[in-house]
Amino acid sequence: MSEPLLRVNNLVKNFSIRGGWFSRMHESVHAVNQVSFEIDKGETLGLVGESGCGKSTTGRCILRLIEPTSGEVWFEGKNVTALDRASLRALCRDMQIIFQDPYASLNPRMTVGAIIGEALVIHHLAKTREEFEDRVVQLLETVGLHADHMRRYPHEFSGGQRQRIGIARALAVSPKLIVCDEPVSALDVSIQAQVINLLEDLQQQFGLTYIFIAHDLAVVAHISTRVAVMYLGKIVELATARDLYTTPLHPYTEALLSAVPIPEPKAKRKRIVLQGDVPSPIRPPSGCQFHTRCPIRKLPLCATEAPLLRESSKGHWVACHLRG
Ligand SMILES: Nc1ncnc2c1ncn2[C@@H]1O[C@H](COP(=O)(O)OP(=O)(O)OP(=O)(O)O)[C@@H](O)[C@H]1O
Ligand SMILES: [Mg+2]
Repeated sequence: MSEPLLRVNNLVKNFSIRGGWFSRMHESVHAVNQVSFEIDKGETLGLVGESGCGKSTTGRCILRLIEPTSGEVWFEGKNVTALDRASLRALCRDMQIIFQDPYASLNPRMTVGAIIGEALVIHHLAKTREEFEDRVVQLLETVGLHADHMRRYPHEFSGGQRQRIGIARALAVSPKLIVCDEPVSALDVSIQAQVINLLEDLQQQFGLTYIFIAHDLAVVAHISTRVAVMYLGKIVELATARDLYTTPLHPYTEALLSAVPIPEPKAKRKRIVLQGDVPSPIRPPSGCQFHTRCPIRKLPLCATEAPLLRESSKGHWVACHLRG
């Protein structure tokens, strides 16, 4: 077996916050809790779950945009979590991120050419002005924009075009892995498919590997090779996109899937409406963290013992006492 491109081992991220307005107590937000997975070159791993379940934090820890509390990230056999700042900068060329909000993530005072070319300068990837401009034009055309867009500013573009600019910026350093953090969530539905298609084309063209973060299981299903479902900082199910959709095991996955419309009218899924909100990651529930909302829970087992993520069938992992 060859080494996976990326390996995440027991990743933990706790954010320390003040207990309350007048409190001196510090509390911890358990944003990511013992997350492990691997990604092979050329794969797309989808990461789904409700708001606040730790998807972005996982993505940012992998790139060390934020420092993990504990755990390890290995990229091409290198321990990313142990790298010093200088080696980390070199690694930035291999791993890039695309953000959800194409309005907030582009500097409004920079021209599109300067935004896309910034990394070329930082990493000394263009020796002359001419080389720089040629590469920027090439990047613009790769994402479906035009050479003369180079001298314009972000506000002159639509949401979909801005996301293309964000993608061109990520591509500038020829990365191997791109974390796509809800890249289409802020876009109109009609534009979403265009951006997804672009990402798929680029993956083919450049042999890219993606971590694709989204709320929406329908979007993730379409683009992913495998999907990890997160709940309160933990992976509760991990399987190929096909297995996850045809035979979901975790009751949380079932609930998420029940909200996804099915193309064939004959197939029917019963809509499962979960009770209550996601509990606070400051004081997560005991045992299986999903037990407070679980339609099939068995007490006291589910409230006292945390289920391990185990392989139920080949490549299909689930953390549930009652399934798999
Ligand atoms: N800098 C921070 N300080 C304190 N808490 C934080 C910080 N960043 C994130 N959190 C908390 O960590 C948890 C996980 O957040 P994260 O942004 O990773 O979730 P997410 O799954 O990406 O959610 P969304 O779908 O809304 O983007 C949340 O409870 C969030 O409030
Ligand atoms: Mg997020």
